[in-house]
Amino acid sequence: MTDTPVSTQPLRVLVLAGSSRQESVNGRLTELVARQIERSGAQVDLARLREFDMPVYDGDAEAGEGPPEGAGAFRERLLMAQALVIASPEYNASVPGVLKNAVDWVSRFRPQPFKDKQTLLVSASPSLFGGNRGLWALRVPLEHLGARVYPDMFSLAAAHDAFAADGGLKDAGLQERLAATVDSFLALAEADTRYLCLQRRWYEFLGDESSAPVTQRAED
Ligand code: FNR
Repeated sequence: MTDTPVSTQPLRVLVLAGSSRQESVNGRLTELVARQIERSGAQVDLARLREFDMPVYDGDAEAGEGPPEGAGAFRERLLMAQALVIASPEYNASVPGVLKNAVDWVSRFRPQPFKDKQTLLVSASPSLFGGNRGLWALRVPLEHLGARVYPDMFSLAAAHDAFAADGGLKDAGLQERLAATVDSFLALAEADTRYLCLQRRWYEFLGDESSAPVTQRAED
């Protein structure tokens, strides 16, 4: 078994707002998360869903023309990043159709780009739930696709009144919780990206031989 060289490049994180609205509270949340990520030394690629414009999924269109340009662009940005953060609104207690549609199109590429992607989910909503039910719905297709969805999530309630003029959160406790969630997610993404030996040891701890296929998967 050969040791993989450890990259010295900063971690690159795609931070996607699941709403393209000019005044989107999830857009504001992505900007705040991006600041936190940059403070930790990682690089941010900030994106809005509008950049990945695509029609409603249609199997005949896929068979005829292949995936649309927007799906290809989303895939490229995913491939360039070691980690993904999605700030998504909640629509009718679930994931917005436009975001699910984008996930569906991108899932048609091979290799399938969400697989093994370290992913953090956050949401913002004017409601008292903060859009949290939408994140549970979004978690299902992403986990199905093999994304490593971080266990903790962050949902900002009463989001229309939650941001201070400098873009931070008015509530210092919430601001601290968001920073702690982002930092611990980044620590895991760093470890997953750079220290493959940790994965190997984890699988071995679980009883797998280092020659077992599941261990080899960690070293792809
Ligand atoms: C909503 N909204 C909403 N909010 C919520 O907390 N729970 C919900 O179930 C819904 N459902 C819902 C359905 C549809 C079709 C729309 C358009 C909106 C309100 C939503 O949270 C609010 O519009 C946010 O401001 C949307 O996020 P952005 O665009 O500001 O990021």
